[in-house]
Amino acid sequence: MSEGVHIVEVGPRDGLQNEKTPISVADRIAFIEALIGAGLHTVEVGAFVSPKAIPQMVGSTEVLRGVSHHTNCELPVLVPNEKGYEASQAAGAKLIAVFAAASESFSRANINCSIAESIERFKPVLARAGADGVRVRGYISTVLGCPYEGEIKPQAVVDVAKVLWDLGCYEISLGDTIGVGTPLKARQLLRAVAGHVPMANLAMHFHDTYGQALANLYAGMEEGCRVIDSAAGGLGGCPYAPGATGNVATEDVVYMLEGMGIATGVDMAKLVAATNVVSGLIGRPPVSRVAAALNAKKAAK
Ligand code: HMG
Ligand code: MG
Repeated sequence: MSEGVHIVEVGPRDGLQNEKTPISVADRIAFIEALIGAGLHTVEVGAFVSPKAIPQMVGSTEVLRGVSHHTNCELPVLVPNEKGYEASQAAGAKLIAVFAAASESFSRANINCSIAESIERFKPVLARAGADGVRVRGYISTVLGCPYEGEIKPQAVVDVAKVLWDLGCYEISLGDTIGVGTPLKARQLLRAVAGHVPMANLAMHFHDTYGQALANLYAGMEEGCRVIDSAAGGLGGCPYAPGATGNVATEDVVYMLEGMGIATGVDMAKLVAATNVVSGLIGRPPVSRVAAALNAKKAAK
């Protein structure tokens, strides 16, 4: 398990989209700058979605423009439809992410349409992105459980993954949106999806509601998966996933990987410093166990 792992930092999008305290565009840009400064080179910076649905992502144009001088970094943004695609292109996005679900109820709650309708919305987005030279990532939510339907069969995830792959997504990110998965289920799911999409093109996007995310990632790595989505400080959640908590913390992922001899290129002290600034803004200490431990160690000196 020693080959490199690609970390996709989603804190500025997934992390902040559910926060009650509004975070200004300037603070979001400063957060992204701090994450890039800590060595994270793929950072999801915003979402071109309805401002009524997710007011926290208003200003994504300014955020993306504010950090787009980092031409050596990948700066993906979420796009749900053609309207979002046009806004993303006006802002200069080179990498976008469409987002589907494996559960009909979650699809309806999150993006107000069925899974099949969401695919129809993505088709013109992918066609235009292909013509414009824009890369498209595909998320699938609720892959290990749905807040409304409970158990989700791997086949339901496979069906959506195949479609997104065939439409031209270069990577499929498997979202355990409500963090209910366990290592055996994560392993079985990856095996099932890898029968149709190459493992090299799969990513693990695990929320940590039940404290299983690191174990699930480890199981997925044993299967050969090498792309991990995480959020600084363990920020995150989805307004349409009641009770779900944040993404697995980037600090915890980095600590685990470095402990396995897998170099991440991330400066832990700088990462924790970035997390601490955001924690101050939202008024909560980081959920990350590693950030909490390092903060406690520093305070004890
Ligand atoms: P809708 O109501 O079906 O869309 O929403 P519509 O086309 O009927 O338009 C309704 C209104 O929204 C109109 O405005 C449109 O102009 C506007 P009005 O006339 O009422 O003033 N609109 C837009 N505005 C800005 N940008 C757009 C856009 N599209 C329409 N792109 C829609 C459908 C998808 C837009 C809506 O449901 C939405 O924005 N939902 C937000 C979904 C979201 O961001 N969820 C959180 C991210 S997903 C997630 O967290 C999971 C993930 O992390 C993986 C995991 O953990 O599983 C990725
Ligand atoms: Mg998520």
